[in-house]
Amino acid sequence: MVYKVVTLKSMLVWLQFYMNVIASIPENISPTSVYSRKNTSIYPAFIGEGTNTNVSLQHVQGVTKIGDFFFIFAKDHIFTIDMREVNQTQFHFSHVFDWASTKDSKNLCLKKGMPSEKCHNYIKMIAMVQTINGNSKKLVTCATESFQPMCKYLKMDEEGNLTDLGESFRGTLTCPYDPTRSYASLLLPDGHWYTATEAAFGGHDAVLHRSSLMNGNEVRLRTEQSQSS
Ligand SMILES: *[C@@H]1O[C@H](CO)[C@@H](O)[C@H](O)[C@H]1NC(C)=O
Ligand SMILES: *[C@@H]1O[C@H](CO)[C@@H](O)[C@H](O)[C@H]1NC(C)=O
Ligand SMILES: *[C@@H]1O[C@H](CO)[C@@H](O)[C@H](O)[C@H]1NC(C)=O
Ligand SMILES: *[C@@H]1O[C@H](CO)[C@@H](O)[C@H](O)[C@H]1NC(C)=O
Repeated sequence: MVYKVVTLKSMLVWLQFYMNVIASIPENISPTSVYSRKNTSIYPAFIGEGTNTNVSLQHVQGVTKIGDFFFIFAKDHIFTIDMREVNQTQFHFSHVFDWASTKDSKNLCLKKGMPSEKCHNYIKMIAMVQTINGNSKKLVTCATESFQPMCKYLKMDEEGNLTDLGESFRGTLTCPYDPTRSYASLLLPDGHWYTATEAAFGGHDAVLHRSSLMNGNEVRLRTEQSQSS
């Protein structure tokens, strides 16, 4: 009979591994299927670069449709695609909204020992809050801002062009710190906003959170720290 010798050290390593597994937030999942250009040639092709900009589409975080527009949110930029123009074999984005990390938050991020590729502004969500005068819409967007998550309100005009409304708030509980962690956000028409994210710098506080963008006095709810991991 063979006995396996379990040393204290290997037990500790195992325990630590187990603790990490239960306490950490999963990494972003990879695509389940990838189609080549050959398979999709019957559809119009999105050609990343616009005709009048040098900004290129990199590190895409997600896509959201609002009215006639698709918004591709990525690292440091939000790209607008006007769906009314997707009737050709190739199309470009029609507007770009720039939102990069400030120099200060980038430096702080590096000082805290984070890898430089994560010390950028990864935009994680964009959603419509309400219609404002005429065809303009008020949107909310959140981004990692070099591990200091931030959200801000934007105005979208009838051409899908975005303008900063100059109102921002901290994104803790509504946006992850680490751009590679998995995340979900759902903003309902009544203003209730549900998010599933990490709520701490180290990423060991997984949380389900509900707030309201319509009624500022409403109590924010979150799962307890012990429950959520
Ligand atoms: C893509 O097309 C090739 C043939 O051109 C086919 O063999 C393959 O199964 C297709 N892949 C998908 C994911 O549809
Ligand atoms: C894009 O880059 C080229 C070469 O650096 C420059 O000549 C051009 O003015 C730039 N275009 C814009 C819109 O910034
Ligand atoms: C596509 O739609 C736009 C806007 O409606 C129009 O200006 C353009 O001529 C159309 N292009 C083609 C190839 O049909
Ligand atoms: C889009 O909005 C920006 C910021 O308000 C503005 O500077 C720019 O001129 C607008 N572009 C168009 C095409 O309306």
